[in-house]
Amino acid sequence: MAAKKKMSVEEILASCRKADSDGGAGPEAAEAAADTAPAAAEKPQSASKQPSSASPGSMSVADILAAARAGKPGGEAAESPAAGGDSGAEPPAAAKPAPAKNPGQMSVAEMLAAARGEKSGGTEKAAPAKSAPKPAAKPAAAKKEAAAAPGSGPRDTSSILAAARKSVKPGPVSKAEAAAIKPAGAKPAVVVPPMPSKPDYAKPAKVAETEENRRGFLAVFFGSFLAAGFTLMGTVFGLWGLGLAKFMFPNVRTEPPSKFKVGFPADFAPDTVETKFKAQFGVWIVNAEYEGARMIYALRTVCTHLGCTPNWLEGEQKFKCPCHGSGFYIDGINFEGPAPRPLERFAIRVADDGQLEVDKGKMFQEEMGQWSDPACYVPV
Ligand code: FES
Repeated sequence: MAAKKKMSVEEILASCRKADSDGGAGPEAAEAAADTAPAAAEKPQSASKQPSSASPGSMSVADILAAARAGKPGGEAAESPAAGGDSGAEPPAAAKPAPAKNPGQMSVAEMLAAARGEKSGGTEKAAPAKSAPKPAAKPAAAKKEAAAAPGSGPRDTSSILAAARKSVKPGPVSKAEAAAIKPAGAKPAVVVPPMPSKPDYAKPAKVAETEENRRGFLAVFFGSFLAAGFTLMGTVFGLWGLGLAKFMFPNVRTEPPSKFKVGFPADFAPDTVETKFKAQFGVWIVNAEYEGARMIYALRTVCTHLGCTPNWLEGEQKFKCPCHGSGFYIDGINFEGPAPRPLERFAIRVADDGQLEVDKGKMFQEEMGQWSDPACYVPV
């Protein structure tokens, strides 16, 4: 049994139309008719592998579909040789209107369109499609417009892909793009009404006036207490700092030296009292007799009563204390007033240079019998 030959679209369509006119035998009848198709329609399989040189009538279904998927505009290159062209260099479809073609001269797109029309509309619609000028004969721009019409849909693979690419942007989109391509049926944004004000019963209860007064009193009391405490602490620390500074830098008391020279013995006349050293050194230099001996000695200028400073009264030849009236003779013996004892003497001697040198570091008291010490006088 000979192998079943592949039918061209033209043959398939012809067999289908014949089957429909015979009574609608269906695809089975078409297939049976295809089995008995004349051998002239057959082509070697090697020819189907060269769609560029084969005519539409000699192309297999696989070749036709491959040509349609490759985006060829209906196999015009294949039908050009059948129309008597030279090498398939066909002018643009929009440039020349295509005349009415017989099935053998139809392009692949026209055949597919005719097949779709017959499949959907039946033989009554397919018959005028044969005789009337085909939509495929229209210019290519009209084809594209018809393919882009909302109700018609894409007609070939390239237009289907173009429509798919046109509708959806590949890859991630931004928020603005996403908002722009928001579906038409999307719900509008929900507008949230403002929050109503809190009712009175939900507000915190007002603190009683007595509570406010109590809190205010405590705040003032403890606040003032703390303020006073911090103030006192600051004052104490300040005084402590001043005391520390005083301790670190004490005052320097400058006292006269305990030993000082008052001059030569000849500078002091007999029975006279020199008072010029009273203010600076607190001493009188006296040239007088004591117990029958003339001598020069140094008397301390401090009253033996309560420590006041007596004055030498030249006219009365005595020392008189202004505080309580105590009086002392020129030799220092007390004779009036509350002074309980005589004045005191300092040590005195003749220095190496012949001057009299007084030493306040040593004192001599008459009631103690110390005035007999030669260290407390210089004989003259
Ligand atoms: Fe000199 Fe009293 S202090 S008499």
